[in-house]
Amino acid sequence: MEFSVKSGSPEKQRSACIVVGVYEPRRLSPVAEQLDEISEGYISSLLRRGDLEGKPGQMLLLHHVPNILSERVLLVGCGKERELNERQYRQIIDKTIKTLNETGSMEAVCFLTELHVKGRDTYWKVRHAVETTQDGLYNFDQLKSRKGETRRPLRKIVFNVPTRRELSVGEDAIRHGLAISSGMSLCKDVANMPPNICNPAYLAEEAKKLANDHKNVSVDIVDEAKMKELGMNSYLAVGRGSENESIMSVINYQGGKSGDAPIVFVGKGLTFDSGGISIKPADGMDEMKYDMGGAAGVLGLMKSIAELQLPMNIVGVLAGCENMPGSRAYRPGDILTTMSGQTVEVLNTDAEGRLVLCDALSYVERFNPDVVIDLATLTGACVIALGRHATGLLSSHNPLAHELLNASEQSGDRAWRMPLWEEYQDQLDSPFADFSNLGGREAGTITAACFLSRFTKKYNWAHLDIAGTAWRSGKNKGSTGRPVPMLTQYLLNKTDLADES
Ligand code: BES
Ligand code: MN
Ligand code: ZN
Repeated sequence: MEFSVKSGSPEKQRSACIVVGVYEPRRLSPVAEQLDEISEGYISSLLRRGDLEGKPGQMLLLHHVPNILSERVLLVGCGKERELNERQYRQIIDKTIKTLNETGSMEAVCFLTELHVKGRDTYWKVRHAVETTQDGLYNFDQLKSRKGETRRPLRKIVFNVPTRRELSVGEDAIRHGLAISSGMSLCKDVANMPPNICNPAYLAEEAKKLANDHKNVSVDIVDEAKMKELGMNSYLAVGRGSENESIMSVINYQGGKSGDAPIVFVGKGLTFDSGGISIKPADGMDEMKYDMGGAAGVLGLMKSIAELQLPMNIVGVLAGCENMPGSRAYRPGDILTTMSGQTVEVLNTDAEGRLVLCDALSYVERFNPDVVIDLATLTGACVIALGRHATGLLSSHNPLAHELLNASEQSGDRAWRMPLWEEYQDQLDSPFADFSNLGGREAGTITAACFLSRFTKKYNWAHLDIAGTAWRSGKNKGSTGRPVPMLTQYLLNKTDLADES
């Protein structure tokens, strides 16, 4: 999709379609008002006859409106003016785009960015319109023999901004929105890919593609032989039951001065999690292909970063691995010596994410990082606690937690903090090893984070449990591209590129 901004009055637009809002009940937005005047009351007469009430998401497509240069005018219901919130704004944009795409308008000038959304400025409205558009038009049909093609798809959208002064703000918003969307799209593609194709080697190939496309991106591969040398026995144990080799891909982005401490992201990359010997029930097991959602998120994030050419150093780790049962598989009762030297008693081979991540988190100490953030579809308990709306955030470093929460609020990619109090640590006690990989039924998300916290003492660290947010189940099953928006926002906030919004 091609996006641009302009600032002009609606009657001068000579586009295939002009998009304007109508509030409930039958109240024209200022731009719709202007069109109404030029068309000598044509629009208001339709509303009086009851063609459109203005309920959120209602659409009315008009052709050949008198005195209007554009072929079509799309009236979009925006609900009660005072009640228009962020979520409704995004829903309205989504519906508008789908309508335009299906009704043969290949180009549109959209005035919905002039709607009043509480507390949000032009930057926010344009950026979220771009992200919503790209998100809504995404589909994964690479593996279908018949692709669903739209006959006259929407190709170009012009967002109108109220004043010429806001043109450059709008352009930044488009640039940021497009970079975030392209990161999300890569995240979705890789996450949606089936586990017979997307294995740890596939993740490594995707990382290398990114490095080929950007000259300040490079990749280091840590394969099983290297892991053995490094003593990453916990990571190796999880992959032992699988024919697919464990591979950790380390993506280096250099946008800052060499020597500047990097920000490190570590993604759980279980390309399939069968549970191993502690095997999962059959129902819905296919969804465990998404257990690499953390790695997909890191990969997508690295793409956004590279497109934005952010002025800092960033490392992204894809901790690729497959958890399978088999005669070589690790078992309940095994005691593993992690890279850190700490020993772990395995009580359940399905609590494998933490066993992979702990060694990856020790590995990244070598970068002397400023901050390390891990992303993981770590616990089913997180889905029970927060549902599918919020990512679980756990951190022992308050300033970092707050930065992430702010970013989540700004990006609409929400996170909610859970405690990481010392009291929970005892649930990991083991009679035979330093601790176990299982914390019992209570507070499963927290005890998983407690486990990780024992490997992250050397830097400021936050953990994102994306088990509920990385993908959707059911009829619309698919990767969401989260938490790419939140993390890109977190980084944008560290630069002065971000508009205060
Ligand atoms: N990948 C799963 C977590 C998960 C399950 C995410 C369902 C999303 C939906 C993880 O490896 C796992 O199996 N966790 C166990 C931990 C338990 C054995 C302590 C879980 O959540 O049941
Ligand atoms: Mn598991
Ligand atoms: Zn898992």
